[in-house]
Amino acid sequence: MRSIVRRWGELLSTLALSAVPFVAAAATDVTGTWVARQASPMGEMEFVFRLKGDAKGALSGSVTTPFNDGPILGGSVRDTVITLSIETEFFGDLQRRTVTGRIVGDQLQFESAALMPSAPPGPPGVPGAGGGGGPALGAGPPPMNLPQTLIARRGTPAPSFKAGPVDYKTLPQVELPALRIVPENGLAMTPPMGWNTWNKFHTQVDDKTIRGIADAMVASGMRDAGYAYINIDDGWEGRRDSNGVLQPNANFPDMKALADYVHSKGLKLGLYSSPGPRTCGGFEGSHGHEEIDARTWASWGIDYLKYDWCTASRVWKNEDMRAVYQRMGEAIRATGRPMIYSLCQYGIAGVESWGPLVGGNLWRTTGDIFDSWAAMLQNITAQDALAGSAAPGRWNDPDMLEVGNGGMTATEYRTHFSLWAMAAAPLIAGNDVRALDADTRDILLNKEVIAVDQDPSGQQGRRVAQQGTMEIWLRSLGHGAYALAAVNRGDAQAEVTLQWADLGLPAGLGARDLWLHRDLGRLADGYQSLIAGHGVLMLRLQRD
Ligand code: GLA
Repeated sequence: MRSIVRRWGELLSTLALSAVPFVAAAATDVTGTWVARQASPMGEMEFVFRLKGDAKGALSGSVTTPFNDGPILGGSVRDTVITLSIETEFFGDLQRRTVTGRIVGDQLQFESAALMPSAPPGPPGVPGAGGGGGPALGAGPPPMNLPQTLIARRGTPAPSFKAGPVDYKTLPQVELPALRIVPENGLAMTPPMGWNTWNKFHTQVDDKTIRGIADAMVASGMRDAGYAYINIDDGWEGRRDSNGVLQPNANFPDMKALADYVHSKGLKLGLYSSPGPRTCGGFEGSHGHEEIDARTWASWGIDYLKYDWCTASRVWKNEDMRAVYQRMGEAIRATGRPMIYSLCQYGIAGVESWGPLVGGNLWRTTGDIFDSWAAMLQNITAQDALAGSAAPGRWNDPDMLEVGNGGMTATEYRTHFSLWAMAAAPLIAGNDVRALDADTRDILLNKEVIAVDQDPSGQQGRRVAQQGTMEIWLRSLGHGAYALAAVNRGDAQAEVTLQWADLGLPAGLGARDLWLHRDLGRLADGYQSLIAGHGVLMLRLQRD
């Protein structure tokens, strides 16, 4: 007992001694640039704190995170405690956050939670989405699995093509057009198919990778299976020249030459921008440069634009969204070059009702997909209620495919791909197609499932029944044909019993299993099958 007391005494005196540098640190001027680096599934993330302290302990400056770049609205340093008030935007949701940190020796230790998005959001009213519709399936640790504490040290940020903080108070005002209907462009009569950089490469993109992907799209058979577009997401942008013309960054020495190369392979090229002054990744956006940017892209030979709300939420209200997207829709139209117009604003503000009216061919309906079973299910579940909005030329977009990225099993990826086909979703692959394994190849190149997705009648499927852990999706393919997917959400294998009458289907349907590639013959009243945990049964059913 006595020895425990003695040890406590020793411990306390050690703490008292080690407290001395803390006290000294209280007087530390934290003015300067502090950098925290953290590994994440998106590659290394960098957080930069540019701090300026005054004699009274007030702090000003700016904070840069992978998703935001903005001024410190108020801040202080008291003893060893730092408090910063910042504004952060995530999926159109502008929030003021208080970030707390501590001075520990020569480090600043910040709580990561306040610097990161909390949960994948989604449109209000959609269960499982963080947009207000109920508890998020993806709730818990932030999607990037950051540790609780980020350690920043004095340092120099990595060289980057990001465009830097914006002073929103002095940002020139952009006039929004009166609402009108932008004529349809006649593109995307079936859901767009292609490939996009984001899910695998995030902002680490360059000319060489895109050329390699284009080659692989041809060699793997993906192009011939219908994947036509190669879309460069965020991270290609450089600076504007003296005429306001946006240049690609040094990773893309000649965008026109790259487009020519992609076209020479029988593929098309897409780009990404934002109606805000910055993209979600902090690169130059199109705010106030809509016409000139659309003309530049047309001159390069761009065939597809993904237009992402991001920092536009700092400039406009949700009610302005239609006019904001119309402005770019009209700018694209004015170029005379056909471009698929992909709206990305996470399904807010009832986009499914006005998306087609601004010239949009597809619109995101949820927050970002992540490479997990729960996130995938969350996004696809939100599609059901929106089924009536899809039609040739105008599609709900539950986000890009994660097939082949490693976060799900092959069984789960088959379910992912099947559900996207049932929902007439764009099939935009997001894996490294230069290194396809056998399972990924079988999934992405399953022509029978692709044919369901690409069915010309363009009727989006719905979730029509639930049976224990099983849910059943049905899609009419016209001409008396249907696609049916039974998905086992449970972990264990389970049996599904399909009764045509219960599903409103006629008796005596001819059936084909689209994963086994096998005709099942004429099935009088229904079908029974065992389905693996997280697995899918996908059938094509045909009346005579
Ligand atoms: C948002 C979009 C993503 C991707 C990134 C790029 O998060 O939803 O699909 O485009 O921005 O920064």
